[in-house]
Amino acid sequence: MKVAVIGATGMVGDVMLKVLAERNFPLTELLLVASERSVGKKMTFKGNEYTVIGLADAVAARPNIAIFSAGGDTSLKWAPKFAEVGTTVVDNSSAWRMDPTKKLVVPEINAHELTAEDKIIANPNCSTIQLVMALHPLHKKYKMKRVVVSTYQSVSGTGVKAVKQLENEIAGVQGEMAYPYPIGRNALPHCDVFLENGYTKEEMKLAREPQKILDDRTFSVSATAVRIPTAGGHSESVNVEFENDFELNEVRKLLNEMPGVTVQDNPDTNTYPMPIYAHDKDEVFVGRIRRDETQRNTLNMWIVADNLRKGAATNAVQISEYLVEKGLV
Ligand code: A2P
Repeated sequence: MKVAVIGATGMVGDVMLKVLAERNFPLTELLLVASERSVGKKMTFKGNEYTVIGLADAVAARPNIAIFSAGGDTSLKWAPKFAEVGTTVVDNSSAWRMDPTKKLVVPEINAHELTAEDKIIANPNCSTIQLVMALHPLHKKYKMKRVVVSTYQSVSGTGVKAVKQLENEIAGVQGEMAYPYPIGRNALPHCDVFLENGYTKEEMKLAREPQKILDDRTFSVSATAVRIPTAGGHSESVNVEFENDFELNEVRKLLNEMPGVTVQDNPDTNTYPMPIYAHDKDEVFVGRIRRDETQRNTLNMWIVADNLRKGAATNAVQISEYLVEKGLV
């Protein structure tokens, strides 16, 4: 497979290369692509040196797969150009996610929907991916009515500038600000931009993307997205009301049986998911599983994942692996 990584010099791009190497993705050629600022820069992959190229050269090379992590504007402009030359695009940005002609894929849940005709495939939002990984097996069994989710999101989700802001604040040095306020010793109820309805764009991604991935509009999601001073790993407090009643032991069993999900839940040993444990792991971790004692058929849980891994790079590479395995590229 000839694969292009668009945004190879960025934070997700960096993890993407690690994941491609770790999983021994069947590469015959690798194209590392970034903005004109980085063209000519040298990078290494599996001990070999590569030179960063620009987008036009990458399209001309007609890769089988192009994995995009270079922001929505780059995806909007360039994904169709790759699709035109026969490349299948796996896009990490929000540009195509809610386009009804594009599939929004978490491989463990709905990769079977993919066909060779899908030339632009959307990777969901990082917070959405870890949420639906836990909701999917429970929804199948108990049927969700309503989900209330509050997120505790790391600065790595914003990009290099935000990671630098937190490092600068910890070191006590002045520097460029990625957020309108300090993030160290703080919590910002503000992820992505505000919309007219008073929610942020991140909150509306959490409200809408799960319905599309699970192909069901009968349940609703209400979200509050908060940025906290963790370096990497997103956490979520999730309250789910089901149509049907459940047994907690069965909930744990269903979650454990879901590929890619690991239950970490033992109050006796202070065992619960945390961002520092999820770091560099591909799984989604679920714990603090308990009944909401104030409402019928309602569950509380805590979900943590490495937002750059399952939330971005790993999910995109898994989609690419599926395309290769099924002969769709
Ligand atoms: P570059 O390093 O040349 O700016 P992050 O989200 O971590 O900031 O990374 C963004 C990634 O997207 C980087 O690899 C960046 O390349 C790339 N990128 C940003 N804008 C463009 C663009 N207009 N064309 C191609 N790549 C871009």
